[in-house]
Amino acid sequence: MNPDQQPVPSEASPTSEAPSAAGTSDALGTSAARTRSAELEKLITEDPAKFRILTGDRPTGRLHLGHYFGTLHNRVRLQNLGVELFVIIADYQVLTDRDVADDLKGHVEELVLDYLAIGVDPERSTIFTHSAVPALNQLMLPFLSLVSVAELNRNPTVKDEIVHSRQSAVSGLMFTYPVHQAADILFCKANLVPVGQDQLPHLEVTRTVARRFNDRYGNGTPVFPRPEALLSEVPLLLGTDGTKMSKSRGNSITLAATADETARLLKGAKTDSERRITYDPATRPEVSSLLLLAALCQNRTPEEVASDIGSAGAAALKKTVTEAVNEYLAPIRARRAEYARDRAELRRILRAGNERANAVADATLAEVRAAMNSDY
Ligand code: TRP
Repeated sequence: MNPDQQPVPSEASPTSEAPSAAGTSDALGTSAARTRSAELEKLITEDPAKFRILTGDRPTGRLHLGHYFGTLHNRVRLQNLGVELFVIIADYQVLTDRDVADDLKGHVEELVLDYLAIGVDPERSTIFTHSAVPALNQLMLPFLSLVSVAELNRNPTVKDEIVHSRQSAVSGLMFTYPVHQAADILFCKANLVPVGQDQLPHLEVTRTVARRFNDRYGNGTPVFPRPEALLSEVPLLLGTDGTKMSKSRGNSITLAATADETARLLKGAKTDSERRITYDPATRPEVSSLLLLAALCQNRTPEEVASDIGSAGAAALKKTVTEAVNEYLAPIRARRAEYARDRAELRRILRAGNERANAVADATLAEVRAAMNSDY
């Protein structure tokens, strides 16, 4: 049967999913996802052991403050609440929008360093690389059989990434990466994925794959949970040039930057000529983004930061932001430097993570093969 023609099964059917949403549907809108996320936060506080999170990044460069306040600190918060955390370094996924992954080894090590520096605890959480877990990747084959080309074609996030791709032709890996991402999430049976709003369509692919696999092969015992999105407020931090903060634009303050580099970058940050500093994201985006950055570092509101600076002008604003960022990042940078001194230990941590991910993936693949009647 063509997956497109599958009847939509009742959402009420029990699954192995962690606390499942009454009234959740595959067409979760953002506002529904937001409501559900608030409920999930409550459930997490009550019983964090019920949840397993998978999340991760592509190893394409150093992580910066946009990543940090957008997602990274949230991962550590959830880990520290007691949720089990899997962090994937998606090395294969680098090849979705470029022909060659440059300096992969270097980027992977830097990413591990960033994770450890911000407080991902390798004793409790699993950091691993895509390419080191064959059974995870093998899941992609049965999963691909569960989605139609038309569905892949419709995915708004893929469409958008294709527009921004630096390649002239769309590769099969780009086209199918939401399915690959479903394998990333489902291999460890994660039931929670912290996402920004733009990632909701991907999670829907994962949920669809899980549902179809269970319907087709589950024999009444679902193999996969249907993971839920945990939407977080992502503050909009601009780069120092006033455009989107991005690894490749040289406009971002990385976690690894020194205090001096940070000061230099912020000194050159774009502002405006109005001496009185006010928080007004709509009309003063650059000044407001700097205020927001200081506020996030100092756990205050941007309005408070603005009123402290008053009419002292852009130079005073930059000084405030520089001090706030450097003070906030000091312990993170110190920890990073400490881990960076012992590369052998770093590689040991990654190897241990890969071993653990492999054990989990092997177990899941064994279940999948049994369900598909191919456990010869
Ligand atoms: N696509 C994510 C990024 O570019 C990385 C990633 C790969 C991921 N697989 C994932 C994130 C699964 C969440 C879940 O940053």
